[in-house]
Amino acid sequence: MPQEVERYRKPTRVLHWVHAGAFIVLFLTGLVLFVPGLGVIAQDSWSRVIHRIAAAIFIIAPLIYIPMNWKSTKEGVKSAFSWASSDIGWLKAAPRFYFLGDKSTMPPQGHMNTGQKMWWFLVIIFGTAFVITGLIMWFGKTTLAPSVLLWTVFLHDIAFIVTGVMLFVHIYLGVLHPLMTESWRAMAKGKISSEYAKTHHAKWYEEVTKGKGVES
Ligand code: HEM
Ligand code: HEM
Repeated sequence: MPQEVERYRKPTRVLHWVHAGAFIVLFLTGLVLFVPGLGVIAQDSWSRVIHRIAAAIFIIAPLIYIPMNWKSTKEGVKSAFSWASSDIGWLKAAPRFYFLGDKSTMPPQGHMNTGQKMWWFLVIIFGTAFVITGLIMWFGKTTLAPSVLLWTVFLHDIAFIVTGVMLFVHIYLGVLHPLMTESWRAMAKGKISSEYAKTHHAKWYEEVTKGKGVES
């Protein structure tokens, strides 16, 4: 039995942290535009310039990653859209698991548990929405009809509110929750102990030890 298993390969970890950095800058510079009282900070437009630089990084990073990591991209995207009865089991067991530490009713999970899949799903959907609406605002501000621009700002804001709230949940679960003891290590170093893999991702652990595990 291996002592440790690889959870995230280096290119995936680099993409995650580049994206996380760009996203936090986008969030903060977006907040300045979103909250009326903070508008004064955006007056000299420096926050708008930084927003566009971070947006370029947010868009370019996956464009470099995807062609170089085509197989794991395909498998990753597929997993975000594949739902099974074990996901219903996770939803039922999650409150007792996360609030009371009761592991007895939690069904065995794959490489991503249902909660992680939900975050990943949101990241794909709203990430795409951010890019489309953001580019429309960026390049169409002076040429588009005001009603079209208003809708674009509205959709950009919805994406901002949903992902902004869920990012706090993501950071809490990844870094602070007492049961997620090796989550941070998984994204920082790429590896987790076999024991942690068995208790948190039993279905995936079984595939890995049989040599059929997904690369991510
Ligand atoms: C990734 C591609 C993105 C692009 C191309 C983009 C582009 C833009 C542009 C051009 C504006 C208008 C700024 C202005 O008034 O001059 C804007 C506004 C804004 N962006 Fe983004 N953005 C992106 C991602 C994000 C992300 C990830 C967030 C937050 C997590 C975000 C939050 C906001 C907010 C809150 C506003 C203010 C909208 C308002 O006025 O109510 N953006 N963005
Ligand atoms: C400072 C901010 C962030 C921290 C500390 C953080 C931390 C982590 C950690 C520890 C994991 C590994 C979870 C595990 O496998 O056990 C992870 C996974 C992941 N992160 Fe982040 N993250 C941050 C920001 C972001 C942002 C901004 C995005 C999206 C734009 C993102 C998207 C993901 C995705 C899709 C995964 C894989 C699925 C999951 O585990 O939820 N993260 N993150």
